[in-house]
Amino acid sequence: MDNQKHLFDRLIYGGDYNPEQWIDYPDILKQDLALMKKAHINAVTLGVFSWSKLEPQEGVFHFEWLKEIVDRLYEHDIRVILATPSGARPRWLAEKYPQILRVREDRARHLYGERHNHCYTSPDYREKVRIINQKLSETFKDHPAVIMWHISNEYGGECHCPLCQTAFRKWLKNKYQNIDALNHAWWTTFWSHTYNSFEQIESPSSLGDEGLHGLNLDWKRFVTDQTADFMHHEILALRESGALQPITTNFMYDYTCLNYYKLAEYVDFVSWDNYPIWHRHQDILTAYDTGMQHDLMRSMKHKPFLLMESCPAATNWQAVSKIKKPGLLTNASIQAVAHGSNSVQFFQIRQCRGGFEKFHGAVIDHYGGEDTRVFREVTKTGLLLEQLSEITESQVEAPVAVLYDMESRWAMENAKGPRNEGLFYHETALKSYQAFRRNGLNVDVINMEQSPDAYQIIAAPMLYMFRAGIEEKLKRFVQNGGTLIMTYWSGIVNETDLCHLGGTPHDLTDVLGLRSEEIDALYNGEVNHFLPVEGNELQLLKSYTCRHLCDLVQLKGAVPLMEYADDFYKGYPALTVHKYGNGYAYYICADAEPDFYYDFYQRVITTRQIRPILDNIPEGIEVSSRIHKDTEYVFVQNYTGDAVAVGLPDDITILSGNYDGTISAYASIIFQRK
Ligand code: GLA
Ligand code: ZN
Repeated sequence: MDNQKHLFDRLIYGGDYNPEQWIDYPDILKQDLALMKKAHINAVTLGVFSWSKLEPQEGVFHFEWLKEIVDRLYEHDIRVILATPSGARPRWLAEKYPQILRVREDRARHLYGERHNHCYTSPDYREKVRIINQKLSETFKDHPAVIMWHISNEYGGECHCPLCQTAFRKWLKNKYQNIDALNHAWWTTFWSHTYNSFEQIESPSSLGDEGLHGLNLDWKRFVTDQTADFMHHEILALRESGALQPITTNFMYDYTCLNYYKLAEYVDFVSWDNYPIWHRHQDILTAYDTGMQHDLMRSMKHKPFLLMESCPAATNWQAVSKIKKPGLLTNASIQAVAHGSNSVQFFQIRQCRGGFEKFHGAVIDHYGGEDTRVFREVTKTGLLLEQLSEITESQVEAPVAVLYDMESRWAMENAKGPRNEGLFYHETALKSYQAFRRNGLNVDVINMEQSPDAYQIIAAPMLYMFRAGIEEKLKRFVQNGGTLIMTYWSGIVNETDLCHLGGTPHDLTDVLGLRSEEIDALYNGEVNHFLPVEGNELQLLKSYTCRHLCDLVQLKGAVPLMEYADDFYKGYPALTVHKYGNGYAYYICADAEPDFYYDFYQRVITTRQIRPILDNIPEGIEVSSRIHKDTEYVFVQNYTGDAVAVGLPDDITILSGNYDGTISAYASIIFQRK
C-alpha cells in the first residue's frame, strides 16, 4: 500500500486537527493547508471528536465533509491518522440509550456531558461504535492518505453500572472458579466479610467495601481488561471491514487507572500524549521525568512509538499554563525522537474558537497567521525533522532497565502500611532512572512480565508485590551475571496482596544475602543519613540524606557499604552488596536523596564496565541515542537557560545544532558516529 510506504520513510509531523469545528468557514481550511505546508507538517489526526458531525442523527451518516478534507490533505501530501470517534458520543445516543452513561462508585448515573462518559460494557454503546467504525473503515480503508488508525482517545475511567457488576462477577468466576478460592485470596474472614456466592460481589464503593484490598486490586485489573476488550471490539470492527493500516491508541502520562501493557498487546504502535509542566522546577528534572515516560512507552513493545500529542505553546488546563521559552518546543520534540518516537505531533493544529480548549495552545492560533513566535518554532522543528528522516530506521538500545510495575503500584498505594502520607513510588523509580541517565546511559522501563535477561543492570525500586514469577527471573538474572539493585519495601505481598510468610523480599533473601526485619516510617521533614562504611568496595565517600522509609535488615551474607547515621539503628546497614552466582545484588535500605543514586550508580556502572554514550555530562544536559546497524545517532540537549560547556568526541559528524564547545540555552546537538 502506498500509504504504508509513507509510514516511516520520514518522521511523522503534525497533530490533532479539528476541521469539523470549521465547516462553516470554508476559507479556514484553505489557510490551514497552506500554513501546514509552510510548517513542514506531513500528517494530521482527524475525527477524534467528530461523531455528531458524522452521524448527526441515529443511522444518518454524513461522511462527505470528512472525505473532502482527507482528499484535500492528500493533494497537499499530508497524510491522515484517522480516529474512531468513541471518545465522546453524540447527545442523541445518550438520550435514546441512557444506560450507556457511566455510573459512579457511589452508584449515581451521570447525565449526558463531557467526554469519556460511557460504559465499556454496554451492548448498546458497543453496537453503535461497531457501526460507525465499520462505516469509517469501509469509506477510508483504501484511501491512500490514511496511514494509521487512532482508536478512540485516551481511554480511561470506570463504570459501576449493573452491566459492569455482572461482567465483573463473571470475570472473577473465571479467575477463581469457586468462591472459596476467592475468599482465601482476598482474606475475607477478616471483619467477617466472607462471600457465599459470586452474586454477592459488588465493585468497591464508598457506600460498601473500600478496604478489601484483594477486591480493589481485582477491580482495577477488571477495569483494564474491560477497557482492553472494548478497544479490541473497536479494532475488530475496523479490521472486519477491511482496514489494514496499523493501529494505535493514545496513552497518558503516568496514568494509574489502567495497566497500559494489556492495551498495548492489541495495538501495532504505542503512542502517548505528553504535556510536561515546564519552567516550574529545574527543566532538566522535567526532561528526565518526561524521558522516563517516553522510555516506558517504547519499552512496552521494544520498538519505535509515536508522540501523538504535545503542546506547541501553553496548555490551558495546568494550574499555571506557561508559554515555552524559545528553543524548548524544538528540544521537547527532539527529545521524543531521541527516546525512540517516530513522530512529533501536537494538540492542536488550529486553536478552537469556543469551548473548554479555546485557550489551549495550537500551531495556528486565533490570530491565524504565520507571523507568530510559536509558528516560527514549529516550522523550524518541522524542517529539522524532515532532515532527520533516516533516523526512523534506528532503535534505542539500553544496557540497563528500571522495573516499574503498575499492578504492584496499585497494591502498594492502596495498602494501609507504614506511610499513608505518601510512599513516593514514582519519585523513587525516577531517582534510579535519572541516575542512569545522568551517567549517560539509555534506559528501558519494563514491568514484571517482561524479561530482565537482556540487561546488565536492573533497578527494581519498591517492588512491593512480586508477581509474574519475578523471583525466579531475578534469581536467574543475578545467577547469570546480572546486577540487581533492589530497595526497601519489596517482595512483601503476592499477586492478590496477601503478605508473604517467611522472610522478605520473598524468595530473594538468598540472592540479596539479607532479610528485612522491620521498617521505620519517618514523618514528613524527618531525616536520617547514610554514612559510608570505611573501606567499602565501591569507594563511596560521602554521606547522604534519607527520608520516608528506613528498612532495618538482618544480614545473611551481604556486606554493608553504607550504614545509618542516626536514631537507635545508627550503624545498621543502609546499603549492602551480595555476590550471588556470577552476579551482584545490591539493596538500598531507605529513600535516599538523588545524589546518592547518582554516585552509587556511577560506581556500579563503572564496575560493570558499561560504556556511557558520553562521558562527563554536565548538569542540565540530557544525552540519549538511537542506533541503526553501525551508525549511532546521539542527542545532546541543553535544558537550561544558559549556554553549557560540553565536551564532544572528535570522531563525529554533527547533523544539527551549533557547537562551539558549548550548547546554547534550550538547544540540541545531534551527531552521528560509526
Ligand atoms: C488530551 C486530549 C486532547 C486535548 C489535550 C489538551 O491529551 O487527548 O483531546 O484535550 O489533552 O491538552
Ligand atoms: Zn457500565
